[in-house]
Amino acid sequence: MSGVDRGRIAELMDREQSRFADAHPESKRLHDRAKDSLLDGVPMNWMTRWPGAFPVFVESAQGADVTDVDGNTYADLCLGDTGAMTGHSPPATVEAVRARVAKGITAMLPTEDALHVGEEMRRRFDMPNWQFSLSATDANRFVVRIAREITGRPKILVHNHCYHGSVDETITTLVDGQVRLREGNVGAPVDPAETTRIVEINDLEALERELSHGDVACVLVEPALTNIGIVLADEGYHEALRDLTRETGTFLVIDETHTLCCGPGGYTGVAGLEPDFLTMGKAIGGGIPIGAYGFTEEIGRRVIDHTVPVAADVGGVGGTLAGNALSLAAARATLTEVLTEDAFERMIALGERFETAVSATIAEHSLPWSITRLGCRAEYMFSPSPPRTGGEAAAALDEDLDALLHLYMLNRGILLTPFHMMALMSPATTEAHVDRHSEAFAEAAAELVDA
Ligand SMILES: Cc1ncc(COP(=O)(O)O)c(C=O)c1O
Repeated sequence: MSGVDRGRIAELMDREQSRFADAHPESKRLHDRAKDSLLDGVPMNWMTRWPGAFPVFVESAQGADVTDVDGNTYADLCLGDTGAMTGHSPPATVEAVRARVAKGITAMLPTEDALHVGEEMRRRFDMPNWQFSLSATDANRFVVRIAREITGRPKILVHNHCYHGSVDETITTLVDGQVRLREGNVGAPVDPAETTRIVEINDLEALERELSHGDVACVLVEPALTNIGIVLADEGYHEALRDLTRETGTFLVIDETHTLCCGPGGYTGVAGLEPDFLTMGKAIGGGIPIGAYGFTEEIGRRVIDHTVPVAADVGGVGGTLAGNALSLAAARATLTEVLTEDAFERMIALGERFETAVSATIAEHSLPWSITRLGCRAEYMFSPSPPRTGGEAAAALDEDLDALLHLYMLNRGILLTPFHMMALMSPATTEAHVDRHSEAFAEAAAELVDA
């Protein structure tokens, strides 16, 4: 489907693997040593999914640049898969963190920073009640529990090929129209058909059918898919989703963890969505772990009604370090000084520059590929037109080509998000970072088709 000769991919892959090995002897040495104490030589299993025979070990990262232990430097368009959408170690966040670290990191009590973050979140997202976790996964997990508690309904509904972190109910896909465990799901506690309904994004008929059972506590969705390539919502989809959820008494949860790339108030702010809950994490702490979930006034009242005060610490919503002083100090500085209106304007312009250059190369070589942009995030996909559903996006994946292009870019000093061909812009990203990718992409396209 990607229109590229398999033999040519294999040939280029061999060449790029040797180039990679030659340029990364110190990373190889560290990885060999790490195999004695870390499973597979990495501190987290998905780090094995970077291209190359072993992962690159990072020496330092600053702004939109990463330097590895061999002294190679990279234009970082991965940005910690959004954890560093602020750029690495943004000075304002570093300063706030430095000050907070010296004054106590976690005390099981609120600090004044929490108020500032709550007020800023309220202003940006037009949502009155906020709570904090240590990850976006936990924000989603807690919201799912709250929605089930308040509605008394057992299930949630998600988009096919969604990703919302390691939330049990969401690690599932449609196989021949049936809800099944997603490939690789580790130790699922129950059959996901018991907990989850799934529809394709943009399939309103299926959405209406699945919500009509009256057993869905909440719909949990990204407003555009960003974890199986980018799949945009059709015109009118969100209005219909909101109408159907209201008609069926189902809560609507919008996960803005990645779509925050659309602007200071995320996709919700740009499109004027009216969710019942918002969830997010990653970038809002500037790299320091934090997750956040917000909800309406009415839900706030119902949460309080359903809370058993003497058991508030063991109800399945919480975490000892959630809401800690350090995370909130980082979020306060990040939100007010780093992820500002001005910063988003520049970041989105860079996203457009990236999109324009990639489109031009695709057209020049008549490749059956496409590119989709969402604010300051863009992704190229190996299908002639942008996929309209998660299923279509999954069908367009080409693992061999994906691996080659990641390695090709890495060997030319560019980091792209592993797992897919996604690029993200930070306030520290420059036109030169984008152009480095554009040139390498043009070189790769020429090598792939003009051989
Ligand atoms: C949309 C979305 N929600 C939630 C998460 C989970 O984030 P974390 O792994 O930081 O908990 C992710 C991670 O990629 C995500 O893309």
